[in-house]
Amino acid sequence: MPIAIPTPVEAFARADDPKGRKFDEISDAVDDINVAQLKSSAHADGDNAYDNSAFDSEKDKETFRQFVDSNESSRRFYIEQHTKQTVEFNVEARRKVFETARTSMSVWEAMELLNTLVDASDPDTSATQIQHLLQTAEAMRKDGKPEWMQVTGLVHDLGKLLYFFGSDGQWDVVGDTFVVGCQFPTDKIVYPDTFGENPDLHHEVYSTKFGMYKPNCGLENVMISWGHDEYLYLICKEQSSLPQAALHMIRYHSFYPWHRERAYTYFENEADKQALKDVLAFNPYDLYSKSDSLPDPVALRPYYEGLIAKFFPEKIKW
Ligand SMILES: [Fe+2]
Ligand SMILES: [Fe+2]
Repeated sequence: MPIAIPTPVEAFARADDPKGRKFDEISDAVDDINVAQLKSSAHADGDNAYDNSAFDSEKDKETFRQFVDSNESSRRFYIEQHTKQTVEFNVEARRKVFETARTSMSVWEAMELLNTLVDASDPDTSATQIQHLLQTAEAMRKDGKPEWMQVTGLVHDLGKLLYFFGSDGQWDVVGDTFVVGCQFPTDKIVYPDTFGENPDLHHEVYSTKFGMYKPNCGLENVMISWGHDEYLYLICKEQSSLPQAALHMIRYHSFYPWHRERAYTYFENEADKQALKDVLAFNPYDLYSKSDSLPDPVALRPYYEGLIAKFFPEKIKW
């Protein structure tokens, strides 16, 4: 069925990446690191969900480290992300994003638009954008997770549309996130050695441990580096009836320094204990489901349109 989007799809395509392939490659490369990390730790814990993985050896951790070290495109990506995500940029990004003329689309239309704009560079091995969303939701559905969580799985990466709504590049859309306005993690983050050129590194306040925040102020009150998580979180907070747990899953899903490495614990408050449980419950579905079979969007659409209608208005302002 053709999709009814008021603006022609071509109008959203980026001149510097007409088929979204550069985006797809970077997006996959940064996800691969987290999948590899999960495989490596799953094996160490005796979890055999990833039997036959490349990391099934005694030297899992070493293999993982070499994998990261040799991943040149990810390293280049993180140098740019860790250099340009400053407080100033983050304040401006939040101001700008909702100020420009916004397009109106249903959730399903947004899924189809993202899928059309990002042409999977390697369709044989990697799921398309819509398939990844459906895989995540379907894995939750199979496990009997509640409807709100299935919908959360379905929408969690829709913020990637930001790439086509005026982002500067890939660095302000994807990648693991971190807190700006305080000291950068020295080890609990991927490529911790790549913050050298970030101007905030030498700022008199932002370079300190707590920076512009107070201890135990709550993660709700810290500014997390701008990207698809925060963008979608702001949209869902205003325009959906998804529960708080869903908002936690959306906002923190790329916040690996916190939810996996346990950096920034000194900013946590009581509510963040629950937030951590929520995002940890979500994370395996995002990563593990990448190895599942490819779902059929046409067959699944009626079921998920029904769920979407329970939590979202017909049209969303993007
Ligand atoms: Fe994501
Ligand atoms: Fe995802």
